[in-house]
Amino acid sequence: MKHDKHGPPDSRAISRRAFIKGAGAIAATTGLIRTPPASADAAPDAQDGIVERIGPGAQTIELKINGEVKRVTVEPRVTLLRALRDHLNLTGTKLVCDRGACGACTVHLDGKPVTSCMVLALDARGHEITTIEGLLTPDRMSPLGAAFVEHDAAQCGFCTPGMMMSMAAALASNPKAQLEDVKRAVAGNICRCGTYPHVFAAALSVVRGGNRGES
Ligand code: FES
Ligand code: FES
Repeated sequence: MKHDKHGPPDSRAISRRAFIKGAGAIAATTGLIRTPPASADAAPDAQDGIVERIGPGAQTIELKINGEVKRVTVEPRVTLLRALRDHLNLTGTKLVCDRGACGACTVHLDGKPVTSCMVLALDARGHEITTIEGLLTPDRMSPLGAAFVEHDAAQCGFCTPGMMMSMAAALASNPKAQLEDVKRAVAGNICRCGTYPHVFAAALSVVRGGNRGES
């Protein structure tokens, strides 16, 4: 399955897989924060010295979520998804597979869709995080949200927030998206209820309406 949203866009950040692999020799619950490359064309391995060890105990960190800075105390092993849901009560982001395979936990990091179950909360520091609550609320419906309702694009709803986050990012970067583009946008989002044709219709109606799905 095509899925390329497994980590933060910043090369500084380490993926959950890299974290577990790197931390294994030291302690399973120790966070390893790496320095940014000294120059963009330097070999990453040569630049990637570990300069800071965090943990294994819980740490208080700041995350910028939906425009607000939130303080949260989490162990280094805690994913962004768990931090959002279990510590910050932002439960619109769904936990389904917890392994980067279904897309239900998709949020935006600096405007790019990522599966939040594959990003450590520590690695989300310094990024702009947007969750489904930042995209729309029942009182502040976005055009994409309204189009999902109009086109009956949700059934059980478990995939819907992630589907909408993926689609919103795609429409923001390509306001003239066509059918193939919107299909590609949710290629990593699994819907067991089979709402795909409705999701595509909703997205294309937003494109025809001439707006970018977010505001
Ligand atoms: S819960 Fe994160 S991809 Fe499935
Ligand atoms: S609406 Fe049920 S999984 Fe997509």
